[in-house]
Amino acid sequence: MTARLDVISVAGARPNFMKIAPLARALGAIEGVRHRIVHTGQHYDKNMSDLFFTELGIPEPWRNLGVGSSTHARQTAEIMVGFEELLDEDPCDVVCVVGDVNSTIACALVAVKRGIPVAHVEAGLRSFDRSMPEEVNRILTDAISDSLFVTEPSGMEHLAREGVDADRTFLVGNVMIDTLLGHRERARQSDVLTRVGVEEKGYGVVTLHRPSNVDDPQTLGGIMGALREISARLPLVFPVHPRTAERMAAAGFRARADGGFIACDPLGYIDFLRLMEGASLILTDSGGIQEEACILGVPCLTLRENTERPVTIEIGMNKLVGSDPEAIGREAAAILDGDVQPVAAPDLWDGRAAERIAETLMDRYGRAS
Ligand code: UD1
Repeated sequence: MTARLDVISVAGARPNFMKIAPLARALGAIEGVRHRIVHTGQHYDKNMSDLFFTELGIPEPWRNLGVGSSTHARQTAEIMVGFEELLDEDPCDVVCVVGDVNSTIACALVAVKRGIPVAHVEAGLRSFDRSMPEEVNRILTDAISDSLFVTEPSGMEHLAREGVDADRTFLVGNVMIDTLLGHRERARQSDVLTRVGVEEKGYGVVTLHRPSNVDDPQTLGGIMGALREISARLPLVFPVHPRTAERMAAAGFRARADGGFIACDPLGYIDFLRLMEGASLILTDSGGIQEEACILGVPCLTLRENTERPVTIEIGMNKLVGSDPEAIGREAAAILDGDVQPVAAPDLWDGRAAERIAETLMDRYGRAS
């Protein structure tokens, strides 16, 4: 007797795609699984979406809701309306959502009200900063999920404290690291360093897109000033997120190459992985990049006051510096003056998280046939 399982996975924004890729592969390897990807269209540019599907070999989405950018309410609502129609047309046994973007909570809410269990991949992370839209998305998605797949011990503690039954929480590792480990060799063939004009370990990488850093011209100006100072000592490569590009243009900051400060368009996964691995320092306000830097052994300064990924700090590869220009400059100098000690990867960040998730989904939601 074989089990059958019908799964819909939701992908909407750039940081979702590297999480969906290994899930699609692991689910595809199990006999009796029907796996469909729904792309919400939250991110839609070639550089922010299509390139990731091609490079990571993600199957063509079953449907694309094409919602695009909007206010939080409108974007979330449009995803909900579109996703409900899809579930009415052809439902499934379980809806799998990843991460903490608006697509995550929107589809989780629709599924649970339609009586379909939700599996949340990357559950339990908490920044304890409710001014971040992602923190609200995380708390709400976890509260209505039936299976909660967790990347690091702090997540298990948060969920236990919030009263989630232990038999619904699973410490499985990190699907984003599955993708990193699976593409590291291929990324080493990328010629992005030559294209950008930097040398191995002779540059830093910057990413910025959090509303708290880029929406206020004064904060953005302070950070840009600190980055320009660092770039006099260490060239900085800055692939600019579309949101940041808009804000920089509005505030009158130049976004193109300028001395040691090398701004470029967003990069695909393979080029960006190569760029991170070759860097001697990463400055970011992204969630995922803090984790990727740890595995690549590149020191990371996080331009935020908090992180929902404390294991990256505990193992010694990440430090919070906020948005204060003086602190950013001081901590960057300390890293450039010091030795970088290799660190051990967090438990279970071994490239097999997606397999553990796929097996658990089959156990919990598979139907005998
Ligand atoms: C979203 C996620 C954030 C994630 C980030 C990664 C939420 C609440 N936020 O933030 O958690 O870290 O994605 O990128 O879900 N834009 C384009 N092309 C695109 C996508 C966006 O030009 O393909 C521009 C639009 O002008 C849009 C702006 O970027 O207004 C912001 O996009 P949006 O999806 O609303 O949020 P992000 O800031 O990207």
